[in-house]
Amino acid sequence: MEKILDRIVKKNKIKTKFGNVANYIPGLDKAGKEDLGICLLDMDGNRYVHGDYNKKFTIQSVSKPIALMLAMLDNGVDYVFSKVGTEPTGDAFNSMIRLETAIIKKPYNPMINAGAIAVSSMIKGKDKEEKFKRLLDFFKMVTENDTLEYNEEIYSGENRTGNKNRAMAYFMKDQGVIESSVEDSLDVYFKQCSIEVTTVDLAMVGMFLARNGRLSTGEKIISDYQAKAVKSLMMTCGMYDGSGEFALKVGIPSKSGVGGGIMSVLPNKMGIGIYGPALDKKGNSIGGDGILEDLSKELDLSIF
Ligand code: DON
Repeated sequence: MEKILDRIVKKNKIKTKFGNVANYIPGLDKAGKEDLGICLLDMDGNRYVHGDYNKKFTIQSVSKPIALMLAMLDNGVDYVFSKVGTEPTGDAFNSMIRLETAIIKKPYNPMINAGAIAVSSMIKGKDKEEKFKRLLDFFKMVTENDTLEYNEEIYSGENRTGNKNRAMAYFMKDQGVIESSVEDSLDVYFKQCSIEVTTVDLAMVGMFLARNGRLSTGEKIISDYQAKAVKSLMMTCGMYDGSGEFALKVGIPSKSGVGGGIMSVLPNKMGIGIYGPALDKKGNSIGGDGILEDLSKELDLSIF
């Protein structure tokens, strides 16, 4: 396995030249464009790591499936999906066009920004501090990493410049999708996106879902149905408007983020975390995408 990872990471490092580090959130552009790393965990307790696997980066949209799990625990599956849909859009992750034009007056799915902000608005707590603390504690539990914290610089940068997310949130409040305070919901969302992780943390989340919502101790945290909901939405919507091609070429439920992270789940088998901040035009890690395609082919990992 070490040899395979070494070869695949080296090969895909070349692709990072053709991508770009995200710069629309102040601070994200400080990442090293050629950074690339992976952590792969399997059910037998093996851990394989390579490259920049231990570098910290902000989780960004990879936070969305994790927040969805807590929102489902807090409110039940039916309530969550009465406010957020389960269909892919084929649009960019930050697109707002369908919020008004769609027949269903709710964001299409929990993986795009609009849907994720709606999900964050459902996290329970008496104020924004308690809501975020509950969410961060949940992140710590599923990653089995007590040291997780959010990056103040990236959080305040996004809070300052996130006008489009703000616009979508106020629109959703008007539509009755967001029932709690808009500013509190945005604060929770911006903070959750700026939580710093490594590929190991993402691989642990992958393993949690691979075990259908169990910690490594065997303790069951979310129901089988909730775990299936998260994995299926990752498969259909997790790589945004690249999800269809990704399903064909890789075939592994995955979620990307503009910090360069990808979290992948092979049900009952593996959790994979990847870091590669050079992104393609759709906002997915260009090197990470290549690594997953090669790994899937070589190890026959596609679930299809
Ligand atoms: O809301 C945003 O735009 C960012 N905090 C997260 C977007 C993101 O990670 C999209 N992923 N590829």
